[in-house]
Amino acid sequence: MRRLVVILTLVLPLFVAAGGDEPYRSLYHHTPPVMWMNDPNGMFYDAQTQLWHLYYQHYPDDIVWGPMHWGHSTSKDLKTWEHLPIAIYPDSVGMIFSGSCVLDTNNTAGFGRNAIVAIYTSADKAQTQSIAYSLDGGRTFTPYKGNPVLTGDIADFRDPKVFWDKQADCWTMVLACQQEMRFYQSDDLKQWHFVSSFGLGYGCHGGVWECPDLLQMDDNGQTKWVLICNINPGGPFGGSATQYFVGDWNGKEFKCEKGKYENEKMARWLDYGKDHYATVTWHNAPGNRIVAIGWMSNWQYATALPTTHFRSQNTIARDLSLYKDDNGEYRVRVLPSPESKAIRGDRTKQLPAAAVIEIDVCESRKPALITLSNDKGEQVLMTYDFNAQTFTCDRTKSGKTDFSAEFPAVTTAPLFVKHNHHHLTLYIDHCSIEAFDGEGYWAMTNLVFPTQPYNHITVKGGKAKIYNVNL
Ligand code: FRU
Repeated sequence: MRRLVVILTLVLPLFVAAGGDEPYRSLYHHTPPVMWMNDPNGMFYDAQTQLWHLYYQHYPDDIVWGPMHWGHSTSKDLKTWEHLPIAIYPDSVGMIFSGSCVLDTNNTAGFGRNAIVAIYTSADKAQTQSIAYSLDGGRTFTPYKGNPVLTGDIADFRDPKVFWDKQADCWTMVLACQQEMRFYQSDDLKQWHFVSSFGLGYGCHGGVWECPDLLQMDDNGQTKWVLICNINPGGPFGGSATQYFVGDWNGKEFKCEKGKYENEKMARWLDYGKDHYATVTWHNAPGNRIVAIGWMSNWQYATALPTTHFRSQNTIARDLSLYKDDNGEYRVRVLPSPESKAIRGDRTKQLPAAAVIEIDVCESRKPALITLSNDKGEQVLMTYDFNAQTFTCDRTKSGKTDFSAEFPAVTTAPLFVKHNHHHLTLYIDHCSIEAFDGEGYWAMTNLVFPTQPYNHITVKGGKAKIYNVNL
């Protein structure tokens, strides 16, 4: 079976590259060559080879969720991906759920200098944390004989994200534990002890907390820490979404001002669409950048999406940083990474199925309307409402929507910073629309399944420039 999976993983990308695939296969977004994918996992950047590694929750035997493996792809440019054999298989400790990778430069774990260590959840009757190491640059992993390295007392105990904590001078793990995030520390990645937890009474709790990340961000000399907290269900438009908290980490505890997150309405979202989940960041990204990628789907309907050989895609890579909104509140700025911006090619008049569109809109009393449509009358309507101070995306008439009652939707982003000229970039790729405010004040990611690609765009109250994709 393992051999068949390896052959399929290697041969199918050739088939896909030859165009022998289906209409909703993305051109420049990461997709699994075949079968099921959910969360991005264990991403790390290898400075020596200059490769971005991306692992992902993968079930190689079906296009729905099943016993989880870590699929593996690498990229030189974050635009095109090479698919490699499955990196970690389920074992006697359990299925391989989400987690992270670190470069163990100082050989703290004793697996070898520069070993890549994966820390993930083993899911069996209980959820526990395990580690595996790679001595060949992340291609193959050997599970540690002493697994699991961390056991718990609750059912939802998963998705370890590990980083080297300079303040505490040790490894720190953030772990999703039902309605809170717990922090554990270790000198050797093998023995972990609990240090603190965060979450009860803060933010949204409409579902279970999953896939955390803890990120240091600086803004004009001020250091803040951002705790990423994916939640499912309980997102602002139903199902899965990514909330975050801006606060302080002192090497032991994460603290943020309770008054700023007291009720669900105050929750801050990294993306205001319906299809942005399990978002986490690359370990060791160059230039100290914070580079994130998310699963472009939603558990409400992920297993029903109208594709046949594969299921799901990831967002384009995004760089995260801080900004202050009009109330002086820190929020996370989300912009396409420089590598993602390089997707934009030459200008064109005709709208292709994969494109980048730059739109300028000026504030006026009337809302600005942006419509993508095809000759069958299927359309996506985006609206800047300057009175309500919102940007919305309506996909209720976008094409195939009836595979799930939860799919037709209107999503809304508040405009946190008032300005009278708005620049917007749309990344369109066969079945997805990612909209970014020009200053990164908000992002919105939504899937769409037109029965023919949208080939028209109209902008009332603004101007659009269409670009081909440059791969
Ligand atoms: C999030 C998630 C994780 C878990 C994984 C299992 O989408 O539920 O919490 O580790 O998927 O595939």
